[in-house]
Amino acid sequence: MEVVQLEDQGIGNELQRTFDWMADRYLEQTKHVSRHLYPRWMEEVMSAIREFQPRTVADVGCGPGYLLEKLARAVPDAQVVGVDYASRMLEHVPDTIPTVHQSLAEWSEDDDTAYDVTAMTFVLRDQPDPVTALTQLRRRLVRSGHLVLLETHTPEGWRRRGFDLYFHRWVPMWGDMHWTHDWPGSRDDAPYRRLSETHRRWAEACPLPDAFYAAGFRHAAQFRPSSDVVMLWVADNEP
Ligand SMILES: C[S@@+](CC[C@H](N)C(=O)[O-])C[C@H]1O[C@@H](n2cnc3c(N)ncnc32)[C@H](O)[C@@H]1O
Repeated sequence: MEVVQLEDQGIGNELQRTFDWMADRYLEQTKHVSRHLYPRWMEEVMSAIREFQPRTVADVGCGPGYLLEKLARAVPDAQVVGVDYASRMLEHVPDTIPTVHQSLAEWSEDDDTAYDVTAMTFVLRDQPDPVTALTQLRRRLVRSGHLVLLETHTPEGWRRRGFDLYFHRWVPMWGDMHWTHDWPGSRDDAPYRRLSETHRRWAEACPLPDAFYAAGFRHAAQFRPSSDVVMLWVADNEP
């Protein structure tokens, strides 16, 4: 099966530094950028995870831990862990929730726990090779395990134009002026300019669902219509 790869921009370390820099403001700004839909989307991710009644859940690229906190409350008997390579993001995760300061690639090599569910929200689009990232996530699943994936999506139909204006004009401009005006790097690399660029690449090359199958998942289902601005997928390790 042929899978379209996103271009490798060699952005690994640079991206990590950007997220470290963003850590203190990430959650508040993400809620704004999502027009306050972020909590509802996370609620949907949580419902999808809860369906499986997991005993072990890993949230990979957990950021400051919004989903982790909700999960720890919603599935109190489960062992929940957050993984992220940006240490300043992990500082925001409550001490009661275990975290691992590693990249996905490093974490995927560990053999200690196999997870009933791995979650990944707003992370895959930034990975240089989605198939490799999905293969790494699958490696840490039990045989009957599931991946719950949330990612941005350029809507089809009438919402497309408004979405493009918002994401590719308004957000980079507003980001420069209000959210990241103190960004120390070049304007071209400023976080909301980068977000727009990443999003454009993802929209052009989005490799789902083929990438799930190329990574060895046996079944994948999408849970949101193509007119939406985010996509929610559940991929099963076994049918
Ligand atoms: C856009 S934020 C998403 C945070 C959170 N999942 C959410 O939905 O709000 C991306 C997060 O993934 C982390 N990340 C990106 N690529 C990663 C990788 N290869 N390994 C570990 N963490 C990664 C970043 O440090 C950042 O905290």
